[in-house]
Amino acid sequence: MNKRLGLEFFTEFVKSSDAGNFAETAQKFREMICWYGCAIREVRTKLEVLNDEFQNNTERNPIDNIKSRIKSPMSIYEKMDRRGLPITLDSIMSELHDVAGVRVICPFIDDIYTVAEMLIEQDDISLIQYKDYIANPKPNGYRSLHLVVEVPIFLSTGKRMVKVEVQIRTIAMNFWASLEHQIHYKKFKEDNVEVVEQLTKCANVIYETDVKMQQIREQLTEEGKIILG
Ligand code: GTP
Ligand code: MG
Repeated sequence: MNKRLGLEFFTEFVKSSDAGNFAETAQKFREMICWYGCAIREVRTKLEVLNDEFQNNTERNPIDNIKSRIKSPMSIYEKMDRRGLPITLDSIMSELHDVAGVRVICPFIDDIYTVAEMLIEQDDISLIQYKDYIANPKPNGYRSLHLVVEVPIFLSTGKRMVKVEVQIRTIAMNFWASLEHQIHYKKFKEDNVEVVEQLTKCANVIYETDVKMQQIREQLTEEGKIILG
């Protein structure tokens, strides 16, 4: 972690915040991070409830696993700075969609849409953004369904709506995205055509396999060889 940037972050944050007092500002920042943590717990619980119920009814889980993270203060600072936005709590909360992130890994492609629909249709959830990178993959082959939802958290002071980015993808899509991320996609995205081409090929092979696995499951279900609800 770059120490100078760390200091810069706090200086900017204190300067541009309303409080103007370091301790108070830091406390407010911690409070905001706490809200994001609560929102993540709400979304995770909703997904876990759905998965449990699904398993009871069909003996199959549409969710393989769930991961979540809160964006680090440094990443928050860098993203706000990159976009030329003021480093204030209000602006972070209104402009950033991915301070709270939940990643849902599903066995099959159709599970992704089942999970997304079951989540979106809950009446306390508001859908802010829906990006289907499965129907419309990124040029490098990245596939995933991205939702930004707002979920209520209930505090002593009342209800507060908090944004959470939910990325839903198959085990296979996650395999590709994790490895590609390690190779660091943002650095060579634009300029290294050859690497992008190779990665796109890998992503397409993986997608074909995903489609094939789903077809096999559907065929076996039709023939009554496996019972999947
Ligand atoms: P960010 O500013 O990066 O959050 O992008 P955005 O707000 O335009 O949203 P987008 O839907 O493009 O991407 C959001 C998130 O999806 C990223 O932060 C990554 O976690 C993931 N993602 C998007 N594109 C790629 C990709 O090409 N490779 C990998 N591994 N992950 C990606
Ligand atoms: Mg992001």
